Amino acid sequence: MEELAGRVAVVTGGAGGIGRAMGERFATEGMSVVLADVEQPALDETVDELRARTLEVTGVLTDVSSYESVTELRDRTLETYGGVHLLCNNAGIGAGAEGPQWEHELNDWRWAFGVNVFGVIHGINAFVPHMVASGQEGHVVNTSSGNGGVSPLRGTPEYAVTKAAVVTLTECLYAQLQDAGSVVGASVLFPGPHMLRTGLFTSWRNRPADLAKERPRSTPYPTIEDIEAQMEAAGITPEYTDPSEVADQVVAGVRNAAFWIMAPSATTDAQIRARADSMLHRSNPSYLRGVPG
Ligand SMILES: NC(=O)c1ccc[n+]([C@@H]2O[C@H](COP(=O)([O-])OP(=O)(O)OC[C@H]3O[C@@H](n4cnc5c(N)ncnc54)[C@H](O)[C@@H]3O)[C@@H](O)[C@H]2O)c1
Repeated sequence: MEELAGRVAVVTGGAGGIGRAMGERFATEGMSVVLADVEQPALDETVDELRARTLEVTGVLTDVSSYESVTELRDRTLETYGGVHLLCNNAGIGAGAEGPQWEHELNDWRWAFGVNVFGVIHGINAFVPHMVASGQEGHVVNTSSGNGGVSPLRGTPEYAVTKAAVVTLTECLYAQLQDAGSVVGASVLFPGPHMLRTGLFTSWRNRPADLAKERPRSTPYPTIEDIEAQMEAAGITPEYTDPSEVADQVVAGVRNAAFWIMAPSATTDAQIRARADSMLHRSNPSYLRGVPG
């Protein structure tokens, strides 16, 4: 979808971090933007700041883990702007489980699947039928992560598994849209090449009470500084990507109809190769990354 100006974008998880940067960039391109987020104060603040710059932005309080909430988001979008052309299923959380996977609480898994996987499925089911039926050019961008979709981060299985699911469901979506002869495209986004200093590392702030932890953590939630220290201990120098760079990559990817929105990176390429080689050679997975996260 080359032409963005005059079209409508919906970004989930749009109150902060990568989602906010995408929304800001789309609005700067002349799009009308709906930012959807579960965090009302942050959403209000973002919408106010962007509107103060005369950007066309609307905020809709949304919980992507609820299909009803996402269908309300669609209805509000259609009422406000009359259509939708670009859907970014971006809201995501880190479940904050610790220790061996076999001791993780089911609520850690349920929360991660609810937001990271069902959030994307809800977006697709609520919006894509309308996008396809409209006959207009459109695009869906689903946010995965290198930590799941490229090289599973062994210390965070809820995150790794749910982000891997986003890759596969987007591959299937892409193929089915092509089969249907639709002018709606699909991409999977791997924000990076480096990690981003966003609210992801305090995801627990949005954890719903009905999926609360059943027993307290034995250690505090790791901060970004703790993760940096773990990386340094593993011989990796922490580097950061700015969310605005990811927004640039998304705009270029949507315009070029690129399925894989993934910044060039020798490290990422080596991870992809190591995993593919292990499968091709039926050798055991020695490539799993050692930084727990
Ligand atoms: N930060 C990184 O290094 C990084 C790397 C790779 C992928 N990602 C992915 O990028 C996406 C954006 O994350 P971010 O890094 O900007 O973090 P962030 O926490 O700053 O942004 C995520 C947004 O999602 C919102 N959210 C959480 N639960 C929600 C729910 N149930 N319904 C609606 N909104 C909800 C949060 O309020 C927040 O505004 C996520 O999918 C994340 O997994 C981040």
